[in-house]
Amino acid sequence: MTTAEKVGQLVQTGPSIVGAFGVSFEELLNMVFDGRISDEEFQRMMSESGQDYHEEILRQGGIGSYNGVTDPEVIRKLQRIATEETRMGIPLLFGSDVIHGHRTVYPIPLAESCAWDPQLWEKTARMAAKEASRDGITMTFAPMVDVAKDARWGRISEGAGEDSFLQSVFGAAKVRGFQQDDLRKPGTIVSCVKHFAAYGACEGGRDYNHVELSGERLYEEYLPPFAACIKAGARAVMPAFNDINGIPCTVSRKLLRDILRKELGFTGVTVSDSNAIAECVDHGAARDMAEAAKKALEAGVDIDMSSGVYAAQLTDLVEEGVIEKAVLDEAVREVLRVKYELGLFEQPYRFCSPEESPEKENRALCLESALKSMVLLKNNGLLPLQKNVKVGLIGSLAESRADMLGAWALGGRANDCISLKDALEEAGLPFVRIESDLSEVEDCDVILLAAGETKEMSGEAASRAVISLSQEEKGLIRALRESGKPIILILFNGRPLAISDAAPDADAIVEAWHCGCESGHALVKLLYGDRNFSGHLTTSFPNASGQCPVYYNHLNTGRPAGRGKFTCKYLDVETEPLFPFGFGLSYTEFEEEALEVQAENDILSVRWTVVNTGKRDGVYTAQLYVRDKTGVRACPVLELKAFSQVEIAAGKREEICFELPVQSLARYENDAWTIHHGTYEIFGGESSKKLIRAETEV
Ligand code: GLC
Repeated sequence: MTTAEKVGQLVQTGPSIVGAFGVSFEELLNMVFDGRISDEEFQRMMSESGQDYHEEILRQGGIGSYNGVTDPEVIRKLQRIATEETRMGIPLLFGSDVIHGHRTVYPIPLAESCAWDPQLWEKTARMAAKEASRDGITMTFAPMVDVAKDARWGRISEGAGEDSFLQSVFGAAKVRGFQQDDLRKPGTIVSCVKHFAAYGACEGGRDYNHVELSGERLYEEYLPPFAACIKAGARAVMPAFNDINGIPCTVSRKLLRDILRKELGFTGVTVSDSNAIAECVDHGAARDMAEAAKKALEAGVDIDMSSGVYAAQLTDLVEEGVIEKAVLDEAVREVLRVKYELGLFEQPYRFCSPEESPEKENRALCLESALKSMVLLKNNGLLPLQKNVKVGLIGSLAESRADMLGAWALGGRANDCISLKDALEEAGLPFVRIESDLSEVEDCDVILLAAGETKEMSGEAASRAVISLSQEEKGLIRALRESGKPIILILFNGRPLAISDAAPDADAIVEAWHCGCESGHALVKLLYGDRNFSGHLTTSFPNASGQCPVYYNHLNTGRPAGRGKFTCKYLDVETEPLFPFGFGLSYTEFEEEALEVQAENDILSVRWTVVNTGKRDGVYTAQLYVRDKTGVRACPVLELKAFSQVEIAAGKREEICFELPVQSLARYENDAWTIHHGTYEIFGGESSKKLIRAETEV
């Protein structure tokens, strides 16, 4: 291969939108964002535009992979050019953001994480991989396993919440689902785990912002999910946009070579985030694009997504000896190895078989995922509803199909989604859609009020400083309260919301998230009791925006929050979250008893008994937490270390058992993992705030 052909393998590009705009596509998106053109105008301009796939550059061997190309016919066309019209004939990779489904869109990750069900997480990823690979996609930029403790950050929607252990289990399940155990198997795609690392710790919850982080926090909180995904076999990793302590991840040798490859044992390919190499100049970490290219390649970024910096700079830098050939060869080898593992050299059109349509059986799994993702936050006995009650349906989100897709549903279509209104109509349940004339509630028995966020209000570049309901929604709730009718508040949202001013006025609150194609069907089944709730939160819900970040595994401080004046609290809001991590109600109740711990041979055997004291069968989400009371260092007041779910019939009891390796208590101090020896509190329950405890010595 020539130097230029090697560099070509490191170039990933997307289609350029060409048309009668006269401005760049990025500028066009800015014009829509600030209202200079309407959404309709944007759609019209897009419909009149063409897509430039840079075929001529491809023919010269200047492109190794694409992102954002999902049309199987275009993929076949580009792959034919790559394998038949270039000198080397090396097949292309096609990457896309298959985050929570391809054509069949299931709940956003933050929602699905509330299912606390690794088998489900793996199954839905497998489903997505089958649909995506059928269209010719060979890599997904997923799972995103960024621990997120600040609900102002819009991308909290894309991961599994605030806990590192749960993110680890979630991410590993997704990797297994996407890749299975052999990338040559049909229905597999490469999992590109992101964003490495600590993207969720951005200051102020503001996307792309600076991250200041101690080594202890990095290793104990933000790296474990990546370690779990690498152990599960992930063959690609995407460095994050942010800096850590002033060094952008994209040019951090410590992060990408020392930690990622040497310490975590990663052997796959790294793909920069979109334009991130160029942005190292904006960070102030590279004088110019040539230096950005050199720093990124030497730091360990193999593929340049969309910045064009590698294409423009690397050939000269290598041929002039500024970059050693060996560094270039190493990156190219990583790319070729993944293409080989996918079997692309033998089957360049691997599984690109548009005639298959697995969507039909996928809807059932999509429904199951939505049923397990929704969380019952409040219920004064109003739910489940009787089928003969007349419902007053209020709020545009109740009939919005598009918003059920949530963020990053690139392959989804609004008309494939079932809204709450659609599902009520389909089931023939009595309801009236109330728009503006609230007097119509008079002849309703109960109000279903849909509120929260459109799909654009979370995801990338969607941080919000105020995360309460809108003024209009709050006014609506107050007005409806006057009617005296019972109110069920249904939240459709992509992040925890600060609803302490609205919650008291609701008789019941359901967290319905953005649950994809089957949202409406799942919600109706749960509201009317055909199915029981089993979802539990994986992020804390703040009382107010100003309380962010708020999370369960906080340190105690020397003056823990309490009634006293001089304690770690706010004057104007409760210190505890409105709804805590791990919390979720159901149509039955569970009581825990008799928690016991035995420490033997570096294993803590933990068991407790649960009784279903209610009148309905239900799913118990067992959560095992620990607290390090050894006094070596200030440690979190609670840390999740294991979880499982068990179905318990009404009136019956079940024993919960966990075998917890002592090694899972390790702490990262002085560049090494160590175990603190001494007293530990062990907790069992179904919420971080509903636990029974015991003590043990380690
Ligand atoms: C975006 C996101 C990243 C995504 C990539 C490709 O900017 O940060 O998560 O995978 O670009 O779409």
